[in-house]
Amino acid sequence: MMINNIRLQNFRNYEDEFVQFMPGTNILIGDNGQGKTNIIEGIYYLLTGKSYRVRREQELLRWEQSEFHLYGDFLINHHKVALESHYKDKKKMVKVNKVSCQRLSDFVGTINVIFFSPDDLVMIKGGPSERRRFLDLHIAQMRPGHVSLLNAYNKVLQQKSALLKSYTEKSFKYSQLQLWNEQIIELGEKIILNRADLTQRLQDVANHIYGDLSSKKENLQVLYSALGKRTVTEAISEFPNLMNDKLEQEIERQMVLVGPHRDDLQILLNNKSGRLYASQGQQRSLVLSMKLAELELIRQEKGEYPLLLLDDVLSELDRFRRDYLIKFIESSHIQTLITMTSADNHLELGTLYRVERGHIRRET
Ligand SMILES: Nc1ncnc2c1ncn2[C@@H]1O[C@H](COP(=O)(O)OP(=O)(O)O)[C@@H](O)[C@H]1O
Ligand SMILES: [Mg+2]
Repeated sequence: MMINNIRLQNFRNYEDEFVQFMPGTNILIGDNGQGKTNIIEGIYYLLTGKSYRVRREQELLRWEQSEFHLYGDFLINHHKVALESHYKDKKKMVKVNKVSCQRLSDFVGTINVIFFSPDDLVMIKGGPSERRRFLDLHIAQMRPGHVSLLNAYNKVLQQKSALLKSYTEKSFKYSQLQLWNEQIIELGEKIILNRADLTQRLQDVANHIYGDLSSKKENLQVLYSALGKRTVTEAISEFPNLMNDKLEQEIERQMVLVGPHRDDLQILLNNKSGRLYASQGQQRSLVLSMKLAELELIRQEKGEYPLLLLDDVLSELDRFRRDYLIKFIESSHIQTLITMTSADNHLELGTLYRVERGHIRRET
């Protein structure tokens, strides 16, 4: 997958800026606060319909403006695809090849983009929701149905928790509860299986990459822990029992306590929790390995690499890891957009762009 160009109108600090990208490595250089991250965010938003930084589109609007437009030309599976995203009056509008499209999620399965920034360390350091998000985003890129599955599941969760919140002994609708539980099990099982399947495949590739990064001395393991059980088979067969056992607690705490919305992905280094025991450098390597494994899996599945967006990542890595990443990018010919604050002599092969106060100028 490749980006050919993007036009940003009234998006963040861009008034109306057009930039043409090249195959291979594209390097965006500029001081802090000039708009490097904003371009990356614009591309990501155009492709996914979401920002990874904010929840509300309002913040993406250039100050004092009431609407923004993003236009971009992409090459997806060797097909030219023009995407357009328009935000106005709290409404999002999306066009694919000039045709309006209800939801980008209908289309998202064919779009592959990997975004990587220092904030991705939350995958190790943060809570389970960060890791579920990582898994779900990845699955959604391969199987568009996963998004609707999650939406349906979340809707049932909301309905069940509304019921739990309205609990009074006399009026409690057990049959209604039973109905929600059946749906939670049905949809939840599918979510668990999707996540466990991805984890299994990530494990092999990520461990291999981690081996290269640590001169084979250390071992990375990722395990999906479903419903707190040791294996997925056990989790699925115990799902209904677990639910019955927790019913009283659910009523008491007025929340849904059993289901994949509480699952976690364990990331282990030499069989110990990466979050608790890995050093900062090891944690960075863990994340880097997971991200590169993600790239590799998408290539295996789709036959082409996704677009890779690296925001301020290189400066965070030590020399060895940085060289590894650069070698990976160069040898795979993956199209990459890299932001950095100063020219890095490791990157002689890319196209250079200067970003200054909301303007982008190609330098080579
Ligand atoms: N909604 C907005 N409207 C106008 N300017 C914005 C908006 N949001 C952020 N900015 C400006 O964009 C700049 C930050 O851009 P960013 O891409 O994060 O910088 P960097 O080049 O360091 O990555 C800041 O100067 C900030 O004031
Ligand atoms: Mg930035």
